[in-house]
Amino acid sequence: MCGIIAYTGSREAAPILIAGLRDLEYRGYDSAGVALQGEANAASAVAKRRGRIAELETALRERPPPSAHTGIGHTRWATHGAPSDANAHPHTGCDGAVAVVHNGIVENYAALRAELAGRGHAFASETDTETIAHLIEDELEAGRDLLAALRAACARLAGSQAIVALSPREPGVAVGARVGNAGGVVVGYGEGEMLLASDLAALLPHTRRVAFLADRQVVRVTAAGASYASLDGAPADVPAHTVALDPAGAQRDPYETFMLKEIMEQPRALSDTIRGLTRVEPAGLHLDDLGRARPWLTRIERVLLVGMGTSLHAAMVGRWYFEQIAGLPADIDNASEFRYREAVLGPETLVVSVSQSGETVDVLEAMNVARARGAPQITICNTPGSQTTRVAEGAVLTRAGLERGVASSKTFTASIAALFALALETGRARGRVDDGTLARHVRDLAAMPDVTGRQLEAFGEAEAAAERFRETRHMLFLGRGPALPIALEGALKMKELSYVHAEGYAAGEMKHGPIALIDRDFPTVALAGEHALRAKIVSNIEQIRARGGEVLAIVTEGDEELTALADAALTVPRAPALLEPLTAIVPLQALAYATARLRGCDIDQPRNLAKTVTVE
Ligand code: G6P
Repeated sequence: MCGIIAYTGSREAAPILIAGLRDLEYRGYDSAGVALQGEANAASAVAKRRGRIAELETALRERPPPSAHTGIGHTRWATHGAPSDANAHPHTGCDGAVAVVHNGIVENYAALRAELAGRGHAFASETDTETIAHLIEDELEAGRDLLAALRAACARLAGSQAIVALSPREPGVAVGARVGNAGGVVVGYGEGEMLLASDLAALLPHTRRVAFLADRQVVRVTAAGASYASLDGAPADVPAHTVALDPAGAQRDPYETFMLKEIMEQPRALSDTIRGLTRVEPAGLHLDDLGRARPWLTRIERVLLVGMGTSLHAAMVGRWYFEQIAGLPADIDNASEFRYREAVLGPETLVVSVSQSGETVDVLEAMNVARARGAPQITICNTPGSQTTRVAEGAVLTRAGLERGVASSKTFTASIAALFALALETGRARGRVDDGTLARHVRDLAAMPDVTGRQLEAFGEAEAAAERFRETRHMLFLGRGPALPIALEGALKMKELSYVHAEGYAAGEMKHGPIALIDRDFPTVALAGEHALRAKIVSNIEQIRARGGEVLAIVTEGDEELTALADAALTVPRAPALLEPLTAIVPLQALAYATARLRGCDIDQPRNLAKTVTVE
C-alpha cells in the first residue's frame, strides 16, 4: 500500500519525484524518501525522513542533492519496522550499488536476513525491504545486469511484491517487478522520458500513455522507452494504451480537501458513469467491456458480490439489484473472508467484484479463488487497466475520475450506479426486464445526478447537525433493507474521518444487543427514508428515545412526522425505491466530513489508513 515513483529522462528528477510522492501520499504517510542517481559509478544520493513529504522536502533543502536525471521515490505505510528515518525507503545494499523501493511483504525475510548477514551483509534497518537490496547487490556482484539481478532476487522472495530499483552501475535505468498482488507497477511513456509508479495518479501530470505490469513481469526503462520480460527472463509484450482520465481531476483546488471535492463531484461522477453505460432515448444499455463474461449472464444461477470497505457496501446495494431486477439469488461476501473458506461455487455463479482501485489484495486473491473454481467474473472498477480488470472476464467501468481522499465517496455512488446498470443488463439478457421496465429504470437512473446535485446544495445542514457530535465518542447507525448498507457506510465514514466509534447495524438487530448501549451519550443516526421500511424504523426511533438516546433521522423531504419525532433530521429528496441509497448516503458523507472538521482531523489522510490496501 506504499507509493512508488521512478523517473528517468532529461529533467531534474528530484522535483518530479517529490510531486509524484505528493500524488501518492494517500497510499501511506509514515515516511518518505528518494534516491537520486548522479554520476555513473557513484552511490545514489538517498534522502529519507519519517513523517510526511514536507519533512523530506526540508531534508532536501537542508542538504541539496546533486543534479540527477534518474531517481526513485517512496511513501511508506509501515509493515515491518516502526516508522523511522532508518526504516524509510529507499534501502541500499552495503556499498550503495543499488537503491530499492518496495510495496508488499517479504514473508521469508527473517531467513533471508540471517543468510545475508551470515555472508557479511550489514543491515541498517529493521525492514523486510532491505533484504531485497542486499540480494540484488549479491547478484550484481556476480556479474548480472540490474534487470537480471532483480529477477534473481525476486525468485528468492516469498509473498507478493512490487519493487523498483536503480543502480549507479547502469546510469539512466530504472527497473521494476510485480509479483503477486501487492500492488501495481504502472509504466508511463513520456516525451523522451519514462516513469514508473504504483498507480496512475502520479503519472497523469506527465502522460496518459501507460502500461500495467501483470503478475510476474519485470520492466526496464530508460529515457528512450521500456522493455518487458517475465520473471524467468522470457521477453514479454506489454501493450501501452491511453487512459481517458483527466489529469485536472487530480487537482484539489479550489476545495479545502480532496474529500470535499470528491463529495461535491458526485453529480458529475454519476453522470459520466451513467452516460457511459446507458442511453435514455431510445432506452438502451451499452456495457461495452463485458467481453467474454456476456454469454454467462444467461447461464448463471446465482451471483456472488465481493469487495472490501466502501466497495463491499456498494456490493451490498448491488445484491438488492440482482435480486429485484434480475431475479437471481445473490449473496455478498467480504473478499478477505471468502478467500479462506472452502466456498462452494463453480461456473453457475457469477462473481462480481467491486474495487475502485482494482488493486486491493484481498479482492484479487478472492478473484483468484473464484477463477480456480471456474466461476465467471465481472469487476466493477474505477481504474481501467488495473489488475481486477485483467483477471475478470468482463468489466463495468465507473467514470468517477481519480479519487484521492483515502475515504471513498464518489466511487461509492458511481459503483452503485454501475451495479444497477449491470443488474439491468443481466435482467435484460434473461428476459426478465421488458422494454417498458428498462426505459423506466434507465430514466430513473439518469435523473440521479441532478437529484444529488440539488442535495449537495444543502451540505451546510449537515454542518449544523455535526455540532451535536463534536464531543461524541460512540454512535450507532441504523438502517433496514437497502438502507442497511448505507448505515454501514455512514458509520465507516464517521470512523475513518472523525475517529468516532461508530457502529453500523441492521435496525432489526438493535433489540438483540446494541440497545443495551443506548443512553444520553450514545446518539443514533437512523436511516428513515420513505423506502427504508420507514414504519419499522419509526418503532426503533421510539425505542431509542424512550431510553434517553438522541436520534438524528435521515428522512425524505416533507416527512413532518419523523422530523418531529427525532431530535434532529436531515432530509433527502424523493427517489425511486431502488435508487434511494444514492441519495441517503450524501448527508452521511457530509455529516462525517463536518464532524471530522470540527474535531480537527486530517480528512484526506486519516491516521493509520491507506487508500489502496495491498497487504493482508
Ligand atoms: C481502503 C480504502 C477504502 C476502500 C477500500 C477498498 O480501505 O481506505 O476507502 O473502500 O480500501 O478499496 P477498493 O479500491 O478495492 O475499492
